Amino acid sequence: MNSIGKFLKETRENLALQLQDVQTRTEIDLTVLSRIENGKRFPTKPQLLQLAQLYKCDKHKVLVHWLSDKVVSEIKYEEFGIEALQVAEEKVLYGKSVTLFPELKADNAIQLESRRYIGSKAKLTNWIIDTIKNETKDVSSLIDIFAGTASVAKSASQHFPKIIINDILHANNVIYNAFFKNDFWDKKKVEDIIDYYNSINPTELEENYFSENYGDKFFDKLNAKLIGYIREDLENRKENLTDKEYSVLLASLIYNIDKIANTVGHFDAYIKKPIKYKQLNLRLIKPSEIQNVEIHQENANVLAKKITADIAYIDPPYNSRQYSRFYHVYENLVKWDKPPLFGVALKPQAENMSVYCTVNAGRALQDLVQNLNVKYLAVSYNNTYNSKSHSSENKIKLETIESILKSKGKTKVFECSHRFFNTGKTEFDDHKELLFITKVNGK
Ligand SMILES: C[S@@+](CC[C@H](N)C(=O)[O-])C[C@H]1O[C@@H](n2cnc3c(N)ncnc32)[C@H](O)[C@@H]1O
Repeated sequence: MNSIGKFLKETRENLALQLQDVQTRTEIDLTVLSRIENGKRFPTKPQLLQLAQLYKCDKHKVLVHWLSDKVVSEIKYEEFGIEALQVAEEKVLYGKSVTLFPELKADNAIQLESRRYIGSKAKLTNWIIDTIKNETKDVSSLIDIFAGTASVAKSASQHFPKIIINDILHANNVIYNAFFKNDFWDKKKVEDIIDYYNSINPTELEENYFSENYGDKFFDKLNAKLIGYIREDLENRKENLTDKEYSVLLASLIYNIDKIANTVGHFDAYIKKPIKYKQLNLRLIKPSEIQNVEIHQENANVLAKKITADIAYIDPPYNSRQYSRFYHVYENLVKWDKPPLFGVALKPQAENMSVYCTVNAGRALQDLVQNLNVKYLAVSYNNTYNSKSHSSENKIKLETIESILKSKGKTKVFECSHRFFNTGKTEFDDHKELLFITKVNGK
């Protein structure tokens, strides 16, 4: 509960007013009042002023209380929340142009979490890791076996000495190598190549595989030409680059084109409206400095038989939407074997189709947890099911997960409180995020 809600509830109760009375005297709807008091939503400023007047409270104090609650809810679980608060204070006092942290301005490198990815847990990592830490003992290694963006793995690396990252997709693997691989890379050399790419005038470029297929569809024609040209150039330079340098450049390309793609965040379809040209200006990604990391690109069920860790974090796809089909453009860009493409969405032949997106998902999960050699299991589950869309229906039911996990050991389930959906844009009533933690028997 936020403290303004609690304060309003206590004040009303002290005045022996019923919610019904407040509704009659302010015309604020009963449900809205109840949600405000329970911290499920913030009152609007006019509502707050009406309540302050009715309860005869000091308006100034109530407004300060309300505003500070709103700020806290935005930054509380953000890694750089306090820094942001300080910068915000300076901006309010001295105007927007103030450069408080010149070093931040100079380093505008792209962070791992800034990618659009369905099911990304980037906003929930603090809650996931805090829950894992509270519920486990002696954990020094974690495997993120369906890592996706790897935001959970990155966050876990701040707490556990060894991290193993796995995902079946080619593009994800390149991204992990770029951000995490312990390998030599010459930053200056990579920056010079990026500067060269940014100096190219795309109007002077010829058509290429990427522009012929995706031009004026997933990207405007000029940027598509530039992306295809850069990708080909990278391939030609490959033998003069370390694996890390090559991965950093390729991952930087993916992260930057994600920001200009003519999509709603995946490549199942493109937006069928004329594309507004935004110049592609490449920025470098910011690799992490994690020491003890192992990277795999394998079917999770196969890998489970070969590795050991103290805890496995398990976040499989839960509906019929295949990630390899949603992100086929990045898969194609990374592999760069230029296959023929099919259909309106220009997809290549299917590859890396996941059993977790089929009716056999439950059996696959059972097999996975059976084979994992770990002391703990942490399994994410959510109900983003949209009843209008059959493809969003979960392939594994909550009860099935529960019974699979209980057969392995004592299992607790945690529900993420709505305050963790920090932007307030996600209505928590429609979005339940659960985390199961199982202490595996005999471990
Ligand atoms: C729900 S997403 C994980 C999201 C991730 N926790 C994050 O924060 O970004 C599921 C991921 O599992 C991967 N995947 C699906 N089936 C797989 C399999 N059999 N083995 C390994 N990875 C798989 C997908 O490519 C996808 O990235």
